Amino acid sequence: MENFIPRLISFLLFFAISSSTSTLRHRGRLTDSDDPAVDLHSISSSSSPSPTTFFEVRRPIPVPKSKPCSTLVLKHDFAYTYGSPPVTATYSPPSHCHFFGPSPSRIVLEWSAASSGRQFDRIFGLWLAGVELLRSCTAEPRPTGIVWTVRKDVTRYRSLFSQPQTLAVFLGNIVDETYTGVYHVNVSFHFYFARRPPPPVFDSPADLIIPISNSLPLNDGLWFQIKNSTAVQGKNVTLPRNAYRAAIEVYISYHSNDEFWYTNPPNSYISKNNLTGIAGNGAFREVTVRLDGDVVGAIWPFTVIYTGGINPLLWRPISAIGSFDLPSYDIEITPFLGRILDGKGHSFEFGVTNALDVWFIDANLHLWLDSKSSFTEGSLIEYQAPGFVPSLISNFSDLDGDFDTVASRTISATGWLKSSFGKITTHFFQRFDYSNKMKFSGNGSAQAVNQSIFYNHGTYAKNSSTVLHSEHVFQIFPLYVYIGTSDQDEDSYLSIANVTVGFDEEKRYFGEKIGFSYTTLRNLQSGEGVMHVKGNRVTSGVGSTRQVYGYESNDGCYFRNVSSSNYTILYDESGESCTKNSWFRSSGHLPIKRKTI
Ligand SMILES: *[C@@H]1O[C@H](CO)[C@@H](O)[C@H](O)[C@H]1NC(C)=O
Ligand SMILES: *[C@@H]1O[C@H](CO)[C@@H](O)[C@H](O)[C@H]1NC(C)=O
Ligand SMILES: *[C@@H]1O[C@H](CO)[C@@H](O)[C@H](O)[C@H]1NC(C)=O
Ligand SMILES: *[C@@H]1O[C@H](CO)[C@@H](O)[C@H](O)[C@H]1NC(C)=O
Ligand SMILES: *[C@@H]1O[C@H](CO)[C@@H](O)[C@H](O)[C@H]1NC(C)=O
Ligand SMILES: *[C@@H]1O[C@H](CO)[C@@H](O)[C@H](O)[C@H]1NC(C)=O
Ligand SMILES: *[C@@H]1O[C@H](CO)[C@@H](O)[C@H](O)[C@H]1NC(C)=O
Ligand SMILES: *[C@@H]1O[C@H](CO)[C@@H](O)[C@H](O)[C@H]1NC(C)=O
Ligand SMILES: *[C@@H]1O[C@H](CO)[C@@H](O)[C@H](O)[C@H]1NC(C)=O
Ligand SMILES: *[C@@H]1O[C@H](CO)[C@@H](O)[C@H](O)[C@H]1NC(C)=O
Ligand SMILES: *[C@@H]1O[C@H](CO)[C@@H](O)[C@H](O)[C@H]1NC(C)=O
Repeated sequence: MENFIPRLISFLLFFAISSSTSTLRHRGRLTDSDDPAVDLHSISSSSSPSPTTFFEVRRPIPVPKSKPCSTLVLKHDFAYTYGSPPVTATYSPPSHCHFFGPSPSRIVLEWSAASSGRQFDRIFGLWLAGVELLRSCTAEPRPTGIVWTVRKDVTRYRSLFSQPQTLAVFLGNIVDETYTGVYHVNVSFHFYFARRPPPPVFDSPADLIIPISNSLPLNDGLWFQIKNSTAVQGKNVTLPRNAYRAAIEVYISYHSNDEFWYTNPPNSYISKNNLTGIAGNGAFREVTVRLDGDVVGAIWPFTVIYTGGINPLLWRPISAIGSFDLPSYDIEITPFLGRILDGKGHSFEFGVTNALDVWFIDANLHLWLDSKSSFTEGSLIEYQAPGFVPSLISNFSDLDGDFDTVASRTISATGWLKSSFGKITTHFFQRFDYSNKMKFSGNGSAQAVNQSIFYNHGTYAKNSSTVLHSEHVFQIFPLYVYIGTSDQDEDSYLSIANVTVGFDEEKRYFGEKIGFSYTTLRNLQSGEGVMHVKGNRVTSGVGSTRQVYGYESNDGCYFRNVSSSNYTILYDESGESCTKNSWFRSSGHLPIKRKTI
């Protein structure tokens, strides 16, 4: 990863000035997840010798009872891979699976990995035919070893699996005498063939997926790298002329100076205090998706904390929400199809408002094709993406102060499209509300950030008489981070961190054939960690994390209540009952309104 170098440099820089009493610098250094402080040799030596299993709390993927047809596609040891091409393997539809009959009803990607020694959290991506299937972060090993498994439902990429394709994995790792952790990885696909169709999922998989990513060969991930607020990167693609529906799915991760963008102070604070080496540009970020230069959708990202983030002891063994399977974001572009079905190239590009080095972004264009005609036609009826400026209220003197940032925006588009299904009008809208309250106290030795993102979006498709499908999603991403540091002597300090991060979501779907369906998810983690840091090593410390996960849908429920402290699970309760979930029911509801259609 190119971002490794700047991090090393800033690390050395911090060292050179480590006698400064500004504990902000400790914050800057510690919140860098490539921080070598994540050396836990000294506190893990007395732990049991068997490998620790790390995990992210999620609902297990519901699969048919039948045994899957499985294929191991890649087995690789990621040692010194930084600056090398992605590791590739050929995926072939397994001959022992009956691919020539009905399509698999469920496809599951399984990443299983083991490591031991000392290593950073490494971001990685996995692509099939250039289409990204997984963006993730490695768990940080212990000397006694760790293992973890990520299972992801990849049924929506089904059209890729019927023919041979190149699988590529980029995981930029550096192994030397200090950072010894090699990642031993297996990648498998499991295909489930159910005799009857599975319960309705929100969408049938697309017929064709066009990657909006860099092409092999290259010595990096297939993602684009966005390093500043003016950079726009992407690709020109030509669409088949019989598409009747299109959605772009965007994968995002942020690193180095923007790994903790939500804690970045405004530049005025940095310059007034003559701070150097502190990432700024304030705490607001927006990813924009541009079609031929027009912003057709936005993403106000969920705050994934990687496994070494804030205090690495918090995430052992319960990993942060989204860290093992970063969320991707869908933007419906069907209203714009009429503009781009001309057989010519059209550009899909990405930018990041206020970006600092570096954001990794790419996307998959999911297309549904009209099998009964070779041309569809359409037109945009309405499109609005008004500009906006986040408001900042700033009140600081020296290193202490308050910063309140608030922003909102809407984007909407309506267009019609004529295919063998008739003339269908599709409306897509997004509404975002963001608030970030940041407080520095104790002469800059403590920072508290309280942020919320509200994201309300939906798609409605109808012909002149009937609603054919509609989807309405409401998400809330609450985040609270408190970091306090105190210097102990010239080269050591104490850090206290509290983190609360949540991912709440309510989805309502209506499909002409399947009727109404819904899912509701409330997923909340909170943790506290203390660590003593000397030089670049955590010499002692403890992290505790609690998580409550509640999922309800017409197709099943899942509940889990789990807590860990100092690598040990304190309690772990889970169930699939939809009725016993009193916490869930008493926790109030997301403010979604059933849209009358
Ligand atoms: C606050 O921190 C700055 C920089 O570390 C230092 O110069 C200053 O003396 C401190 N002020 C107080 C009141 O401690
Ligand atoms: C954490 O666990 C280790 C052994 O597993 C123990 O030696 C250490 O005292 C514990 N730390 C705290 C703060 O409980
Ligand atoms: C990978 O698969 C091999 C068998 O092919 C197995 O021995 C090994 O333990 C697996 N590794 C991981 C990390 O799952
Ligand atoms: C922003 O990034 C682009 C692409 O990486 C680069 O060409 C441009 O010079 C950068 N702009 C600034 C102001 O650094
Ligand atoms: C896309 O094509 C346009 C003109 O056809 C060209 O100006 C632009 O540079 C291309 N963009 C990319 C990302 O290739
Ligand atoms: C920042 O630097 C300027 C110019 O050297 C100086 O006048 C000012 O007092 C400094 N401010 C702080 C907070 O150190
Ligand atoms: C700015 O902060 C100071 C000190 O905390 C406080 O007394 C003052 O009321 C604040 N001003 C505003 C406008 O918030
Ligand atoms: C964060 O802000 C929200 C709403 O502004 C408030 O309800 C919540 O208590 C705050 N959390 C903390 C930890 O201050
Ligand atoms: C609208 O769709 C419904 C359901 O598919 C169909 O029965 C009806 O004929 C369609 N109406 C028009 C005007 O195409
Ligand atoms: C941090 O969490 C601890 C334990 O829950 C709590 O006692 C403390 O008040 C919290 N501090 C802050 C600043 O949020
Ligand atoms: C989770 O379990 C803990 C310990 O048993 C319990 O105190 C807590 O109330 C539970 N939380 C929920 C939401 O069930």
